[in-house]
Formats: sequence, structure tokens, C-alpha cells
Amino acid sequence: MAPKKENPGKIKKAPASRSGKNRLQERSLEGKTLLVTGGAGFIGSNYIHYVLKHYKNTIIINLDKLTYAGNLDNLKDVGGDPRYEFIRGDIRDKDVVAEIFQRVQGVVHFAADTHVDRSIMDAGEFVLTDVFGTFVLLEALRRTPTVEFFIHVSTDEVYGSRDKGFFSEDDPLNPSSPYSGSKAGADRLAYAYSVTYGLPIIIVRPSNNYGAYQYPEKFIPLFVTHALEGKSLPLYGKGTNVRDWLHVEDNCRAIDFVIKRGIVGEAYNIGANNEVRNIDVAKRIVNELGKSRDLIRFVPDRLGHDRRYALNCRKLRKLGWKPEVEFEAGLAATVNWYAENEWWWRKIKERSAEFKSFYDAYYKDRK
Ligand code: NAD
Ligand code: DAU
Repeated sequence: MAPKKENPGKIKKAPASRSGKNRLQERSLEGKTLLVTGGAGFIGSNYIHYVLKHYKNTIIINLDKLTYAGNLDNLKDVGGDPRYEFIRGDIRDKDVVAEIFQRVQGVVHFAADTHVDRSIMDAGEFVLTDVFGTFVLLEALRRTPTVEFFIHVSTDEVYGSRDKGFFSEDDPLNPSSPYSGSKAGADRLAYAYSVTYGLPIIIVRPSNNYGAYQYPEKFIPLFVTHALEGKSLPLYGKGTNVRDWLHVEDNCRAIDFVIKRGIVGEAYNIGANNEVRNIDVAKRIVNELGKSRDLIRFVPDRLGHDRRYALNCRKLRKLGWKPEVEFEAGLAATVNWYAENEWWWRKIKERSAEFKSFYDAYYKDRK
């Protein structure tokens, strides 16, 4: 898997416009070709929908390996769009990546292994995809001066947990799960490449997203679909852990703002200032569905469970972005989406061996 040695002399000098820190002109996606990695996943597919809706002349190449979390059903409605191309491939494959980089002017890098509980069971793929995969993309960026920007999608989990106050972009990273450790490695590697080689990289660190097309092993879709099936809802610990819930459409708009106005070499937190305890999210879900609270079952906690994430997003707000989806309305719409799209999640929960084997192994003492 390690890339072959290449002649460093082949690397062309970055054009001045590439690394310019104080770029005054807004970037635009219009008329550009964009590589989206991991576009068949939850946020990636929502982002592809967002770009195709808001930009008439942007071409998207979606590079996705289709792991258990990648799902072409998420993109059913854009399959015939001439502005959209799907390539099944691995971000760790440097030849595939190099070829695609020749064709694009921008990259938004979502591809990753993303589920904390799976990383606790086995961290191997997380290191290989999240760290090494990011390295392969950064090397391609280094060798392709025609790529004008690279958005590295990191996570708020890289900061670790805090009981009070808010994390700012300059705070030290202190990740506490194998997933967030891998993401922190990738985050700092992206930063190092931007400093060392003057590459046009911007990092974003979103908080917990929710919305349509989220794989039903994650908290909100798992609880909604389990409640619809009348199954018990496995709430870790006392249910008092806090997450800052960000609607996926607000996240996609934030990434758009960062592409337009973000400063190269900088990181931007993306959060909705919407902290809710897990127990309260669970109660809202059952209320929304008219189900009994007795479905909620307290189960043994996640190892090393981060208590709370909270972000200071002043830097992003200065670019002009603010969240638009209020949690109560966003959660109701999300619950409704899963209720109306049973075909989408039943296919995964009932037919996917990867869903079942993980669920049976991880929850065997938590049912
Ligand atoms: P997801 O698990 O739903 O999707 C990940 C996608 O990446 C899948 O389509 C999968 O097939 C693809 N993929 C995995 N390994 C690959 C590889 N080696 N090559 C090519 N494709 C590969 O993830 P998500 O929730 O949409 O998260 C997207 C990104 O956003 C990730 O980088 C994640 O760390 C970050 N993030 C997620 C959240 C959240 O709440 N979901 C919050 C903050 C940051
Ligand atoms: O904060 C951003 C991160 O949010 C992303 O980087 C990750 O990719 C994404 O998966 C998410 O991580 P979390 O661990 O916060 O999300 P998850 O949906 O797994 O869990 C949310 C909370 O709900 C967390 O406190 C654990 C709890 N939980 C989760 C599951 C799956 C339960 O109580 N029971 C469950 O069965």
C-alpha cells in the first residue's frame, strides 16, 4: 500500500495564487470540477445534493470505496445528472487519486471510517483510511498545482471532551477514541502539508450532524428506526453525555462558506450552539413518534465516552455563516424522513451482514 518513491524534482512550484493567505477575492465553485471523497456516505451525499442544487455549472466527481457505510441509494436521484460522475475507488490508491486530481480544481475530503464504537472494537481501518488515506490525497495535492483548494473535513472530536466552556480553533487537540485519534492525525497532517509546502488546504471541524441518509448505527437514526420497529433504545451510561447537534444542511452551507471565504492554512469550527443531553434527544424521538419512553434502556457505557463537545464558532460566523435549522424542527423533520423512507433503512438493517455482525457483537451485552 505504501506509495512508490517519486522524484521530488518533479514537483512543480506552487503558483502564488495557491498559497495566498490574504486572498481577497472569493473562490467560486461555478464552472469548476470538484472531487468529493466519501460522497456516498451521510454528509458527502448531502453535500453533493447541496452543490448540484446551488451551482448550475459545477461538475462533481465522487470517489468512494463503498464500504459498509457508503450507499448509492443516497444518490439515487442524481445518478442521471450529467454534472455528476461516480468512481468506485479507494482514497489510498495513489494512481486512481493522481488521475482524478488532474481533472479537478477543488477537493472536499469526507472519506473516512467514522463510527466511534467500531473504532473501539478495531482501530485498524481507521488508521489506514483516515490517516494514510489522507496522506495519499495530500501527496497528490502536492504534485498537482492546478488544484486550487482542498477542504479537509476533520471533526470536533479532535479536541477531546470538556465539561465547561467552548473549544476554539487554537486549542490543543486531545482526542480520546481511536477514531478521533486517527482524525487528529489526519487534521495535523493536513496542516503540516499546508505549512511545509504552501498548499491551499483549509480544515473544518464540524460537530455532530443529523439529518437524512445517516447510517442507522449512529445515535439518532438508530434510535428512530429502532423505535419505529418497537425495539428497545440502548442509551449508554446515564444518558447525560452532551452533543452539539448540527443539521447536515447547515454543515453543507458552512463548508460552502469556507470554500468561498476561508483562509488557506486555517481551521474552522462548525457547530450550532445546540447542546442537548442524549437522554433528552431520546425522549424527543419517542415523543415525536408517539411511542412509550419505556423503550429507552440504560446500557453499559461506551469505553472512554467523551462527556461533552462544545465549539466556539466565532471565526466561521465572521465569514457570514450561521446555522438556520432549529433543533426541534430539524429533529422532527429527520424523524419524519426515516418514518417515510423505510425502504432506505430496512435494506441496511435487515439485509446488510456488516450492520448485523457489528450490532450483534457490540450490543450483545447492551440489549
Ligand atoms: P460516513 O461513515 O457516513 O461515510 C463515509 C464514506 O466514506 C462512505 O461512503 C465510505 O464508503 C467512504 N469511504 C470510507 N473509506 C474509504 C476509502 N478508503 N476510500 C474511499 N471512500 C471511503 O461518514 P459521515 O458521517 O458522512 O462523515 C463524513 C466525514 O465527516 C468524515 O470525515 C467524518 O470524520 C466527518 N465528520 C462527521 C460528523 C458526523 O456527525 N457524521 C461530524 C464531524 C465530522
Ligand atoms: O462530534 C462529531 C462526531 O459525531 C463525528 O466525528 C463522528 O463521525 C460521528 O459518528 C459522531 O460521533 P459520536 O460518537 O458523538 O456519535 P454517535 O452517533 O455514535 O453517538 C452520539 C451520542 O449518543 C454519544 O454520546 C453516544 C450515544 N449513543 C450512541 C449510540 C450509537 C448511545 O447512547 N447509544 C447508542 O447506541
